[in-house]
Amino acid sequence: MYKKYLILMLLFISSFYSLYTQADDEGFSSFFNSFFGKELDVAPVKNALYLEECGACHFAYQPGLLPSRSWKKMLSQQEAKNHFEEDITFDDKTVEAQLMHYLTSNAAEYSSFKRSRKIMRSLSNNASPLQISETPYIKRKHAEIPKKLIIQPEVGSIANCEACHKKASKGNYDDDEVSIPNAWGYSWD
Ligand code: HEC
Ligand code: HEC
Repeated sequence: MYKKYLILMLLFISSFYSLYTQADDEGFSSFFNSFFGKELDVAPVKNALYLEECGACHFAYQPGLLPSRSWKKMLSQQEAKNHFEEDITFDDKTVEAQLMHYLTSNAAEYSSFKRSRKIMRSLSNNASPLQISETPYIKRKHAEIPKKLIIQPEVGSIANCEACHKKASKGNYDDDEVSIPNAWGYSWD
């Protein structure tokens, strides 16, 4: 009788403990949110170096949006030399190593967050996409948005997460927080 409760209690504590300790960027707030059922979609970015280096040209995509094999490929010399027509190779190898460590250790396969897990599940075993917007899960979620609303100047492409997901930088992609610019009055078909 007693033993049963003890086991249940231990299971309960260990499941929260593992949630709390999984990625080094999950702080008390995400622990708090998951406890009360308001879980974020992906772990938010709090790494200052990453925000500065990888948020200079575009939204600082959360590491939990791609698997570690994608980030490794993206930072490889060959890919970094031509990153969407930009050269993002690093002269300072310690900066490069720190970014690599941050991205790979917080990548989708190590995250317990809902969207990271769904992105992982949608990928085949060895797929290493370099675009979040090209992962099957993210593609499917945006398949019904009229092209006209995506290519308009206020958005440009699906890669511009923040144009529609107003709380993207907080790791919140909830469909209640989405608003596509100029979508009012637009006929979806
Ligand atoms: C010099 C500018 C520049 C810097 C610095 C930069 N990027 Fe990019 N990145 C781009 C451009 C341009 C695109 C294409 C954007 C688009 O499709 O709208 C892009 C696209 C991406 C995409 C694909 C988005 C998608 O889903 O289609 C990812 C992921 C990405 N960058 C990650 C990074 C990471 C990680 C770093 C830091 C190591 C970084 N970027 C630094 C210019 C930059
Ligand atoms: C043109 C506006 C737009 C852009 C840009 C955009 N999204 Fe979305 N996104 C939406 C809309 C609208 C939905 C809701 C779709 C639905 O109702 O199923 C959505 C849904 C999602 C969902 C599922 C949310 C849910 O509650 O089911 C995720 C995750 C997501 N987007 C992530 C991203 C990421 C990551 C990016 C950038 C790489 C991005 N989105 C760019 C408009 C956009």
